[in-house]
Amino acid sequence: MQATDHTYFARTLLTWYGQHKRSLPWRDTINPYFIWLSEVILQQTRVAQGLPYYHKFVQAYPTVQALAAAPEDEVLRLWQGLGYYSRARNMHHTAKLVADKYNGHFPDKYSELLKLKGVGSYTAAAIAAFAFREQVAVLDGNVFRVLARVFGITDDIAAPASRKVFQQLADKLVPAEAPDTYNQAIMEFGAIQCTPLMPDCLFCPLQQSCFAFNHGMVQELPVKSKAKAARPRYFHYIVFVFEGSYYLRKRLEGDIWQGLYDFYLYESDDKNLRPEALLQELEAAGIPVQEAQLQLPHKDYKHTLTHQKITARFYQIKLNTRLREQVLQETRLALYTPEKIEELPKSVLISSYLKDAKVLVNL
Ligand code: ADE
Repeated sequence: MQATDHTYFARTLLTWYGQHKRSLPWRDTINPYFIWLSEVILQQTRVAQGLPYYHKFVQAYPTVQALAAAPEDEVLRLWQGLGYYSRARNMHHTAKLVADKYNGHFPDKYSELLKLKGVGSYTAAAIAAFAFREQVAVLDGNVFRVLARVFGITDDIAAPASRKVFQQLADKLVPAEAPDTYNQAIMEFGAIQCTPLMPDCLFCPLQQSCFAFNHGMVQELPVKSKAKAARPRYFHYIVFVFEGSYYLRKRLEGDIWQGLYDFYLYESDDKNLRPEALLQELEAAGIPVQEAQLQLPHKDYKHTLTHQKITARFYQIKLNTRLREQVLQETRLALYTPEKIEELPKSVLISSYLKDAKVLVNL
């Protein structure tokens, strides 16, 4: 498509959007809090998966002040299953900031929104455009794809340097009279018409002017280099049980799942750890146990994150006495009843184990 056809591009998308858009709750509001909430939830998440979480959060926290006042454990528990938990922690941090320092009002400019924790150029542009009608382009994976195909851009969308190329073009395309609807339109067009694998080129209103269609390059564009292979990690969890209650602890910063609860963890390069090695590790931690107390795992739990592939095994140990105070301090473990465990924020991996072990009944 030619650079001179920018208004044609925008008009075509707006017409298409009027006919094809899905009705989604965050599209019927200009409340920046709801828009921010929806965009944070929808990062790295499909609409179908994010929708129930959006409803849960709006119901639990109808205002930014309500979210700010909530305990972090509760926010993480509500987020459970969505992954990328730093999103929830940053969101909570930003809610407190907006409530305390901004009088409950979100900044109304792209450049100011960018300063908020967890708000990158994507989210800042989305809030600025949808809530405040600022003339900025929202760039997500859908938009990259549409622009690469229609305008024949061959820069690698996985390379950070390409962002400038796309942003420059995208910004020029945003019509001054409808930055909000236009940005929704191009994202929606990428999500349901110009899809990654099977775009509906036959019934596409941009077919004639689409570079990729005209050059037989629809499958080649956008160019995206492959991500590095995920790093394998082997988690050996020791599940200490005492009188039907379980020892868990909150994960610290500096690794995945910060703020979520799990068990005593021994990580090893070795997938097949010998039980003696575990017992030695426990002895060194001041928790001597007999080999006979150790219930060996009967299955592997696998969990894939963007850059890590986790294989976890769970070893149960039934204790006759509580763990000593000094051990609790050093390991940060504490004893929780199944009812309390239900309420704690946990990774999907831990929840799956707890369900299999019949500790949790309703996940
Ligand atoms: N994905 C990310 N943001 C979205 C939005 N506002 N509407 C639909 N899907 C989205």
